[in-house]
Amino acid sequence: MRNNKYIVGNWKMNKTAVEARQFIVGLAPKIKQSESHILLAVPFTALQSSVEAAKGTSLRIGAQNVSEHSPGPYTGEVSAGMVRDTGATFTLIGHSERRHLFHESSVAINEKLKCAWAAGLQPLLCVGETLTEKQANKTEETIARQLTEALAGITKEQVASLLIAYEPVWAIGTGLVATVDQATEVHRFCRHEMAKLYGKEHAAQQPILYGGSVNGTNAAGLLHHKEIDGVLVGNASLTVDSFSSIVNYQNLQLQKIASAH
Ligand code: 13P
Repeated sequence: MRNNKYIVGNWKMNKTAVEARQFIVGLAPKIKQSESHILLAVPFTALQSSVEAAKGTSLRIGAQNVSEHSPGPYTGEVSAGMVRDTGATFTLIGHSERRHLFHESSVAINEKLKCAWAAGLQPLLCVGETLTEKQANKTEETIARQLTEALAGITKEQVASLLIAYEPVWAIGTGLVATVDQATEVHRFCRHEMAKLYGKEHAAQQPILYGGSVNGTNAAGLLHHKEIDGVLVGNASLTVDSFSSIVNYQNLQLQKIASAH
């Protein structure tokens, strides 16, 4: 499960259905050679057109959030089943913007995970500390709490398909990328916590991605580390050129080395 890297774009609240289609049509020829898992988390309104545009490519389409409820009287909500019905195959859960801007609780995140699995969507759970927590040396405490609360009552069978992204809140949209050392230290800690919750065998297989100001310049350095199983990319996933350069990160580094001589 950890052999190939995950390159995941998170468009956040960007792109209409037509813009999504145009992006994917432009991206498709540029990702043909990649052996990575390539995923795009798109707005609900672009799911259908993105799934259609991605047919015949290796690109997987998913949502950025799902409701913690089953279908019913929840005005404005979108259920995991509705997302799955579009042909989408995964969803982000617990992104820091959901936690902080929309006050998503750990109980809701736990319910969302359960709904995603029940609907057949692969969840990508986001965890990460704020700058205040980091400065108070509470990174590990925060990550441990977020993982334990999110995964309460989640079985070993379910967790086998879980993806985790470590996204330090201070690195999101700020241009401040964690160093490879900072990211890998937290990744190792996540793995250690997953071993406590689900055993060493599961933890060794758990894909853990890094997110926060990833771009074409820093992606190769992060992705070449064996502890970093992929990247979750916000801003740099919005243009075909920047996203495809991250997907083709091996070429990027080769080009850099070549031009240095
Ligand atoms: P940026 O890459 O824009 O910092 O966003 C990261 C992110 O939140 C991905 O989910």
